[in-house]
Amino acid sequence: MSVLATFGPKHSRDEDTCDQYHDVNLRVKQPDALFNEYSDWETFDGPSGTYGGVVFNARGHAVKFTPIKNGADEEPYNTCLANKKGHAPEFYDAWKVKDADDEEFYAIEMETYDDTLYDYIITKPTKESDDSDIDSSLADLITQLAHDRTCHSDLHLGNIMLKRTADGHYTVKAIDWMGAKFEEKVCKSPLFFYEELEELIGVEDMKLRFSRTRQAVLDFERVQKAAARALKKNNG
Ligand SMILES: Nc1ncnc2c1ncn2[C@@H]1O[C@H](COP(=O)(O)OP(=O)(O)OP(=O)(O)O)[C@@H](O)[C@H]1O
Ligand SMILES: [Mg+2]
Repeated sequence: MSVLATFGPKHSRDEDTCDQYHDVNLRVKQPDALFNEYSDWETFDGPSGTYGGVVFNARGHAVKFTPIKNGADEEPYNTCLANKKGHAPEFYDAWKVKDADDEEFYAIEMETYDDTLYDYIITKPTKESDDSDIDSSLADLITQLAHDRTCHSDLHLGNIMLKRTADGHYTVKAIDWMGAKFEEKVCKSPLFFYEELEELIGVEDMKLRFSRTRQAVLDFERVQKAAARALKKNNG
């Protein structure tokens, strides 16, 4: 057995439910060693402009701290489920933590990815083989989201992450599942990155990038419209 297995997920991979990660079932860890270790963490990128952030722990996992607003969000459960459906990075654990002012946060421990798609597009030079690899992985992700009726609800280029695997290929997953809805007939929110891609693809050396992705976005919209029509017909 490899040493790394010691740090494996705390929940069994065979469990087909994420129920233990519903808000009401979450463990509260207090004090939280990791939280204390990163007492200056408000200087990290904060979720949605507030106090919070993503840090990397000793296991090399990403841990996202999200302030709990009204206790109504189900980000840990959504992230777990999205991972089980194959749309999110590997999910390891989630718990609640309080800061010194008794403000509550979700802590979500997950697999670390390399870059957001936004960072990749603006910082990496065009390399056609990599681009087409990312392109088809992203197209697959979007198609699968549509097929199992998963509505991410905040799908922009900064919420899509890439990871280069040992064989040189790219894995593409979505993060930031706070507002996600599952088993929906129709996604009420649009795919934000279509417009973002339009802008970025306007840049000369990016002309070839992400053509299949654009097709996948269009396919997704077609599926959505077909579902909306079917729904209307059923209700009418
Ligand atoms: N699994 C991960 N691996 C590596 N980096 C990550 C991971 N999850 C999140 N990040 C980094 O942290 C940032 C914020 O995460 P996330 O999008 O989940 O939070 P947010 O609520 O949108 O916060 P913000 O408003 O700062 O974007 C991401 O844009 C990404 O750069
Ligand atoms: Mg985000």
